Amino acid sequence: MSPRLCKECVLRLKPYIPGKPIEEVQREYGLTDIVKLASNENPLGASPKAIEAMKKACDNVALYPDGSCFTLRNALASHLGVQPDYLSFGAGSDELIREIGNVFLEEGDCVIQSDPTFSQYEGAATSNNCTCCMVPLHEDFSYDVDALIDQFNEHTKLVFIANPNNPTGNMLPHKDAERILDALPERAILVLDEAYYEYIERSDYPNGLKWVLEGRNVILLRTFSKIYGLAGLRLGYAIARPELISLIERIRLPFNVGSIAQVAAIASLQDQDQVIKSRMMNSDGKNYFYSQFDRLGLKYVPSEANFVWVDVGQDSKQVFVELLKRGVIIRTGDVFGWPTHIRISTGLPQDNERCIKALEEVLGSISSKG
Ligand SMILES: Cc1ncc(COP(=O)(O)O)c(C=O)c1O
Repeated sequence: MSPRLCKECVLRLKPYIPGKPIEEVQREYGLTDIVKLASNENPLGASPKAIEAMKKACDNVALYPDGSCFTLRNALASHLGVQPDYLSFGAGSDELIREIGNVFLEEGDCVIQSDPTFSQYEGAATSNNCTCCMVPLHEDFSYDVDALIDQFNEHTKLVFIANPNNPTGNMLPHKDAERILDALPERAILVLDEAYYEYIERSDYPNGLKWVLEGRNVILLRTFSKIYGLAGLRLGYAIARPELISLIERIRLPFNVGSIAQVAAIASLQDQDQVIKSRMMNSDGKNYFYSQFDRLGLKYVPSEANFVWVDVGQDSKQVFVELLKRGVIIRTGDVFGWPTHIRISTGLPQDNERCIKALEEVLGSISSKG
């Protein structure tokens, strides 16, 4: 047997399974007209102002970007109402999740998360040779706050909460997040992953910024990938008190955010009309899905994000393949441990309609065969 070359924990890392790219479906199924409702992207795309800014920035790509993201940092700081040293930027919030693991986790530490949730928290634990304690959600997919708190002990270092959660879309309200924060062991940090923050319409969403400004052990993660429609550029950020941010900055690679991403983000912040339009379209899309799932008798979780988690009562992989044949890409629940669920991102109104038509057809044909 050949000797192991890598660290043992690397062998335990589970490769990320992304949503299927449109090009792959085009190649495999010979289709041209494809709707991707699989990766929680913004179907309206980036702001036209961001696209204009990106085109101009192309002239300067021979130069390294500003590693400190000075202009973006100041623009975002004033948008959020924090000082610039409360921010750290990453190549997507994915990079920040991994950086946070690398900065704060030592062997023997434990990461706590819910199950199912976004896969990268476990990756941060495993890549640092730490254990990841997975606490099942309630039967209705809401967070089990008591069970999470029950797991806290002297080994607890990072507690990750996706809010709203991916893949289920449900939200942890302020009072529950506060209970978790108040119960947090002294040496632990609560990471609130707010990737879908701008889609929130409920008023009881946690005011994480308040806790950050109070100096609590809280890190907020947000991204330009979702409502800002810049997923392809890779840009996310962390908000935390400067002492925590300066630790993340120590580990950050020098030029981790490209110059085009920086100007696009600045222009996007200046186009809040696009954000409002996107939020409204998402809200309409979710309401349409709910009405159709009710009509089809499918159980779903009301969502605060831009996707809906629905039980199709059939093998989701089979449903996935049948939908692909009809040019519709969704995510299967089996990767999250729920084999009869699927996750559907909201799209343009005509895409949502096409998805429901295809789903109805597919579920009818599977049940008539089976
Ligand atoms: C909860 C959650 N956190 C983080 C991310 C990663 O986003 P980014 O594109 O900023 O890396 C996602 C992406 O789907 C997500 O759902």
